[in-house]
Amino acid sequence: MSLRLSLWLLLFCLGMFRHKLLPGVQADSVPSAAKTLVWGPGLEANIVLPARFFYVQAVDSSGRNLTTSPGEKTFEVKIVSPVEQFTRIWIQVLDRQDGSFLVRYRMYATYTDIHIHILLNNKHIAKSPFILEGPVYHEGCDCPQPSGSVWEAHMHCPQSFPQIDRDLAIYASVDPDRNAQEIPQRFGQRQSLCHYTVKDNKVYVQTFGEHVGFRIFMDAILLSLTRKVRLPDLEFFVNLGDWPLEKRKPTEKIQPIFSWCGSNNTRDIVMPTYDLTESVLETMGRVSLDMMSVQANTGPPWPEKNATAFWRGRDSRQERLELVKLSRAQPNTIDAAFTNFFFFKHDESLYGPLVKHVSFFDFFKYKYQINIDGTVAAYRLPYLLAGDSVVLKQDSSYYEHFYNELQPWEHYIPIRADLGDLLEKIQWARDHDEEAKKIALAGQQFARNYLMGNRIFCYYYKLFQEYAKLQVTEPKIREGMELVEQPSDDLFPCYCHRTSLRDSAKDEL
Ligand SMILES: *[C@@H]1O[C@H](CO)[C@@H](O)[C@H](O)[C@H]1NC(C)=O
Ligand SMILES: *[C@@H]1O[C@H](CO)[C@@H](O)[C@H](O)[C@H]1NC(C)=O
Ligand SMILES: *[C@@H]1O[C@H](CO)[C@@H](O)[C@H](O)[C@H]1NC(C)=O
Repeated sequence: MSLRLSLWLLLFCLGMFRHKLLPGVQADSVPSAAKTLVWGPGLEANIVLPARFFYVQAVDSSGRNLTTSPGEKTFEVKIVSPVEQFTRIWIQVLDRQDGSFLVRYRMYATYTDIHIHILLNNKHIAKSPFILEGPVYHEGCDCPQPSGSVWEAHMHCPQSFPQIDRDLAIYASVDPDRNAQEIPQRFGQRQSLCHYTVKDNKVYVQTFGEHVGFRIFMDAILLSLTRKVRLPDLEFFVNLGDWPLEKRKPTEKIQPIFSWCGSNNTRDIVMPTYDLTESVLETMGRVSLDMMSVQANTGPPWPEKNATAFWRGRDSRQERLELVKLSRAQPNTIDAAFTNFFFFKHDESLYGPLVKHVSFFDFFKYKYQINIDGTVAAYRLPYLLAGDSVVLKQDSSYYEHFYNELQPWEHYIPIRADLGDLLEKIQWARDHDEEAKKIALAGQQFARNYLMGNRIFCYYYKLFQEYAKLQVTEPKIREGMELVEQPSDDLFPCYCHRTSLRDSAKDEL
């Protein structure tokens, strides 16, 4: 064979190979307006969320999903109201870099109908325009759906949540009168607690203890929920501290305390963490870290990610110290460092110098993310799952509301509580790149399906509803409680047709 021919063959084969390896850069990888997929809660009028959202998956003309970004500006989204010239709607199209897009929008007023236009080169895609027949309420509108079951159906809430069933199974009943007496006596001095009553869909609260600042998250979710759906009357206690409180054995008299974190050794009723709750509510105008922006900042594509396991954080637990020591011994395998020392004495010879804070988005330059307990469960897990890396999760006696549904080897790689097998597990991931990538992807899917706003609202609602059923005395507005008022929405008042319907029904009687 001539040299020239073999060279040509070589080049030809390389070309084929390249073609096979990188299906994303095929010439026909342009999205098709007709085949592209659009779905999500933001396309339904009755799913009221602080930030509404939906997904767009680019599909080419032969029906194949694009797996790399066709360009950030590929799709244009416009939301218009047929009766109003200017809609006060903020829209953001987030490129997930994997051929899909997350579109979020925030409404600042209520509209009779809205039309969502999704355009590709000025052509409508899929079933665009999507017509949401209203009224389409905005987050600030105080307009609760009177029927909880109608609201749950609108939200597509699941029939049950295993964690709620498990947490409540130990109570044959709960007695608000007795709890109002006993719980503040038992915990009110040394712990920070909130005592809430929801009566006629209004929220009342009394706080106990010194550090009650975190009450704002609970107030905010209760106000947000009661604007959307009528809650049953209920009375309950929320623990504002980090650690779960109820340590009694099932054979003793257990008192129901709602906490943001549960543990194998306690009986507290878990709720989504204040952090995840805040991310859903976006009350504080939080822009950096929420379950949506994290999905658009997942770093380079998988093959280009650094195969060193990554961790940053503060010294809130012994195992974190061990992790950093391990990293210093094995810098080619683990990059773990402290950004802050607070709990332990900072010994630089053992734990190295403090490093600068790293943007959470930069975590995803690395393939392997280590999730290790802090004071309690590490509340970053939802964001780590939502990113585009595989999570190595330490076994822990602490858990959040969703751990029950999270499966080892499916959604994350498990590591022992004492980190004894961490190096081995990282090596496994390096040796099984395809499998590791698959787990990373399943973790993302989990986050999309279970950790977004619609699901979090469902969880809270179901928890309150199931808990309310257990009450054997009537929830009351106790002495010392104050009304938690809905923020006034003067700027863009909403007209709630539900209350007006109810009022006019009354008038007819
Ligand atoms: C394309 O993406 C959609 C949305 O994620 C998914 O439901 C579907 O199964 C994918 N299709 C293929 C052929 O992978
Ligand atoms: C991967 O990350 C480690 C630790 O941060 C760093 O030392 C190394 O240079 C990185 N490798 C590449 C190829 O960037
Ligand atoms: C906590 O309980 C879960 C579920 O029973 C178990 O898988 C886990 O190993 C336990 N963890 C610890 C550290 O006790």
